[in-house]
Amino acid sequence: MAPETTLTPDLIAEGERLFAGAWVFVRGVPGLEYLPPGDRPEIAFAGRSNVGKSSLLNALVDQRTLARTSNTPGRTQELNYFRPPDQGPGRLLYLVDMPGYGFAKAPKQKVKEWTGLVKAYLRGRVSLKRVFLLIDARHGIKAVDREIIALLNESAVSFQVILTKGDKISVGELAKVTAATALALQAEPAAYPEVLTTSAERSTGLDLVRATVAMLIKPL
Ligand code: GTP
Ligand code: MG
Repeated sequence: MAPETTLTPDLIAEGERLFAGAWVFVRGVPGLEYLPPGDRPEIAFAGRSNVGKSSLLNALVDQRTLARTSNTPGRTQELNYFRPPDQGPGRLLYLVDMPGYGFAKAPKQKVKEWTGLVKAYLRGRVSLKRVFLLIDARHGIKAVDREIIALLNESAVSFQVILTKGDKISVGELAKVTAATALALQAEPAAYPEVLTTSAERSTGLDLVRATVAMLIKPL
């Protein structure tokens, strides 16, 4: 059974406030030397190509075209940094939309570059608070995801699975996949136990993702 959520109504309201207003694209990072200073917490969206990382980000900020999305896998090719409009106290953070991995059809050299960037970033970014690892609700965790999970475990980077495209399967199926995924994650030391489910298409599950972000940037 999934653990009880720790997200209180206060956090949900905070999350809603944090994501209101026009978020800003900060920069695209094609190599680690272009990273902005790690002076604030950041949360990254990782997952296979086409799983819906950029779409989820857009749904969270309710801006359809902030991050570029596409039917064709391999749309996002850099680490794209976004920040909230207001950078007052308690609102300093970056969300990072990452290139996808596991995309076999792109030119080999390109895939090597993106995957190298993704892995080096995930391993070494000290200000990275949590990785949202997006998994297509229809497919569950695949072999390519396990590679990234192994890397996150090794580097002790906390990650949380978000199931995407929940609108593509029935409510019953979604509950089954969620439970099976939570069970599989029990064996992964860096995994946060609670699995979130979303649909960017129908804007569902977004409040808990927003509240999670609000919780993560709260000073202790
Ligand atoms: P890369 O940048 O290539 O790694 O892909 P990505 O993970 O950013 O995926 P993207 O957000 O570009 O979405 C890929 C495709 O999935 C697009 O055609 C989206 O419209 C579609 N999609 C994303 N989220 C959802 C969802 O919740 N439901 C449905 N039905 N389609 C979705
Ligand atoms: Mg993308």
